[in-house]
Amino acid sequence: MFVPTMGALHEGHLSLIRQAAGSDRPVVVSIFLNPTQFSAGEDLSTYPQTLEVDTRLAREAGADILFVPGVRLIYPHGLEQARREAAELVLPDVATRPGLEDACRPHFFGGVCLVVGRLFDLVRPTRALFGEKDYQQFRVISELVAGDPDRFGSLEIVGCPTVRESDGLALSSRNIGIDPGDRDRALGLSRALAATTDADDAESARAVMHEILEAHQLKVQYAEVRDAGNLETTVSTGKPMRALIAASLGPIRLIDNTPYEPGSRLSKVD
Ligand code: PAF
Repeated sequence: MFVPTMGALHEGHLSLIRQAAGSDRPVVVSIFLNPTQFSAGEDLSTYPQTLEVDTRLAREAGADILFVPGVRLIYPHGLEQARREAAELVLPDVATRPGLEDACRPHFFGGVCLVVGRLFDLVRPTRALFGEKDYQQFRVISELVAGDPDRFGSLEIVGCPTVRESDGLALSSRNIGIDPGDRDRALGLSRALAATTDADDAESARAVMHEILEAHQLKVQYAEVRDAGNLETTVSTGKPMRALIAASLGPIRLIDNTPYEPGSRLSKVD
């Protein structure tokens, strides 16, 4: 069982580790702050690094092995070469077509696919767990693995529900940067998603999300309803759908998502 992370562990990561520990297989947790998934202007240099606390939390949650590789083990030919490889990788369609994270962070999925492929090669897990807060990432990794059985064998990619604070804020290592005075604005994402339960179709869901995000003075990057599988625009009401948001609060970029069922006033933010 494998839980790859970039450290700064929070309840979301710990829920994955606990779920993995519920099986009878050893649980490997990796901590590697992956430079190739950050572009020059992003927050790599300020990303929280809390290895000592992470080690204790991972152990308490049930990790058997903590794998903390250095850059040279993951990228033996150096970072420049790794960045080139990441940019040249042929990615699954769900990493390039939806116009969501792929449009906002064009370098991101190349770096993610490069590092998770490398981590899977080293750890050789039978099952790997990912939080659904990074929903497009979860779908990309699922497709990456499904598309290369020679390399990844029968590795199973498991998506696990987003863990939230009691007020609805989805847990993220970046939440630490939210100014307490801006907390209510940050809740705009989960409130916007919750409001989609009253929307009868994808277009009204999109409109209500934009309205609520703007009322919280968030800078919207996207607020969309998509096919939950390939994340492309959908008109079909028969297939599972997902409402997805990215918005910034000053320098902090927040993402969140939830299943969307048209006209279902019963569904809730997960
Ligand atoms: O979601 C993350 O923490 C990272 O993107 C991952 C999957 C560990 C790859 O660096």
